[in-house]
Amino acid sequence: MTILGIESSCDETAAALIECVRGKLRVVTDVVASQVAIHAQYGGVVPEVAARNHMENVVTVLQRALGKRRPDVLAVTAGPGLITSLLVGVQTARTLAYLWKKPLVAVNHIEGHLYANWLENRSVQFPAIVLIVSGGHTELVLMKDHGKYELLGATRDDAAGEAFDKGAKLLGLSYPGGPAISKQALAGDVSAYSFPRPMIDSADYDFSFSGLKTALLYTVMDIKKQKKRLTPQRVSDLCASYQAAIVDVITAKTMRAVEQYHVKFVLCGGGVMANHALRESLSKKLTSLNSSVQLRIPSFKYCTDNAVMIAAAGAFHAMRKDFTPWKKVEARSQWDFTSKS
Ligand code: KG4
Ligand code: ZN
Repeated sequence: MTILGIESSCDETAAALIECVRGKLRVVTDVVASQVAIHAQYGGVVPEVAARNHMENVVTVLQRALGKRRPDVLAVTAGPGLITSLLVGVQTARTLAYLWKKPLVAVNHIEGHLYANWLENRSVQFPAIVLIVSGGHTELVLMKDHGKYELLGATRDDAAGEAFDKGAKLLGLSYPGGPAISKQALAGDVSAYSFPRPMIDSADYDFSFSGLKTALLYTVMDIKKQKKRLTPQRVSDLCASYQAAIVDVITAKTMRAVEQYHVKFVLCGGGVMANHALRESLSKKLTSLNSSVQLRIPSFKYCTDNAVMIAAAGAFHAMRKDFTPWKKVEARSQWDFTSKS
């Protein structure tokens, strides 16, 4: 079975073709047209500009992913995301499903991030802890089987990616903030500034990052009040200390979930998982906690938005014959993949 994935939920127009043979996935093509450079000049994604660019890119991206091939199944990101951006991918997929008379899967973007873990072809034992850290989501989920989830906790305000993006903006760094902060942090001292670790000891699995961002703002204001300049070294120290606070909270909560639910696997996903410090911290802590627990993190290019992960999630839905008639596939700006509705 071949599956075409289409992704347009934010600022990447992407299409990919994968092959699924007895549950094993193989990437045939993987095309991403990124709009990052366009949105960087505005300091963030401008929805209207994003939708317009998806419209301009979608046909070319599809042509490059498909060539003369026709997929057996179509999978499209139907949500969550920017509604006008989602509409471009959804309407394209509906049209192709109708024309080619092919089954269509409406994929949840966050579930797509999770299924990037199946691209490397290794099996997973359930239950597993799922950690999603992206631009709009920070969630810990108990995955009991394919399609069976229990949400353990989520952010109460900003997502981890937002904490990176907003922090970078405060420090005058470029968009997107995650890669900018992690690059600057390389030359910084993690203990130069002491930032709070919000909710690190709370008994739940929720997160909160907006207070941390405010702490960074006050620290920057203090530096300026003391008539000190934001030198490159200070910016690096701020980045390293700020990043360490985010990484510590995410690591601590994930470890607690691993211990409480006695899982053998931790499956990570989302753009923030491209962060080296986070990857290292999770791996170190997990090894010291229990070396028999396996940590799965997709390769860098499958952490940030792409269509291969959407096709991968689509493949697992297709194996369960979980299709949606093309007329009923609708774009949804909000959609919790762990809830049935
Ligand atoms: O998953 P993603 O590509 O898009 C969404 O679904 O939101 O995640 C984008 C987020 C952005 O907030 C970006 O700053 C963050 O992922 N990000 C990173 C890194 N690379 C991307 N955050 C920290 N470190 C990175 N290296
Ligand atoms: Zn994403």
